[in-house]
Amino acid sequence: MRRLRLSPMTFEASTLWLLKRLTGIQVHWLYELRADATGNGNSHGGSTDVGYHQFRDVVAFDGLPEDQAQVIAGHTGRSPRRLLREGGRIHAMEMGGRIVSQLNVQFGAFDVSTPIPLRFSLPDDAFFVSFLYTPDAERGHGYAQALLRHACGALFREGYGRAYCHIRSTNIASRRAFRRAGWRPVGIIVATMSGRLVATPGTRRRGFGVTRLKPAAEPSGSGP
Ligand SMILES: CC(C)(COP(=O)(O)OP(=O)(O)OC[C@H]1O[C@@H](n2cnc3c(N)ncnc32)[C@H](O)[C@@H]1OP(=O)(O)O)[C@@H](O)C(=O)NCCC(=O)NCCS
Repeated sequence: MRRLRLSPMTFEASTLWLLKRLTGIQVHWLYELRADATGNGNSHGGSTDVGYHQFRDVVAFDGLPEDQAQVIAGHTGRSPRRLLREGGRIHAMEMGGRIVSQLNVQFGAFDVSTPIPLRFSLPDDAFFVSFLYTPDAERGHGYAQALLRHACGALFREGYGRAYCHIRSTNIASRRAFRRAGWRPVGIIVATMSGRLVATPGTRRRGFGVTRLKPAAEPSGSGP
């Protein structure tokens, strides 16, 4: 008879899902990757079919073929041009002409909409990864983790020392992709479904600021 095997991450995610259903409390993990804990950032077996893009400004983004630009723009959470104008970046992985994974990078202080409208403030040597996305048909091939390794490697070589992201506790695929790319959980953001920020253990110790945005403010960033 086959036994059902539950990984610790799946068990924990199921428990937190139940907690959310019963109490309205939702948990996001803060994950960290430190430059000194990584290799050189090169990845995906050196396949010649793979290309990596890094967009730092609108001019570079506007040089993309229209179909690729549209795919990316559909999953940046807001206008990619606005993100770039505000100092953010977009990284994408291309394979055989298809965009197979993408992510946003932000610096300094910025607003996010999940789990509730919040303002995040990063230390000067840090950057934040959000909107990691792989199209349905491309999932499960390691593209997200390869892109994470490549993008973070490039930023670490520029001199940044650490990277952060926040992930909904029940998002197992995302948590596995980040873990596989070397990231580790270092803090928790606890909020209620009704919009109250309850606690942020582990965040302040790292100089990572989390404050509740006033309800009237318009959040502009960051996905699940
Ligand atoms: C999260 C996401 C980017 C992962 O993309 P991907 O290219 O498939 O990721 P990878 O293949 O690099 O890694 C996914 C890992 O999760 C695992 N996984 C995928 N779906 C899973 C599921 N439903 N349950 C458990 N594990 C799962 C894969 O097996 C892989 O782990 P492994 O390498 O240990 O086998 C993709 O699922 C996605 O775009 N989701 C929607 C957007 C989203 O949630 N983004 C994250 C925001 S923080």
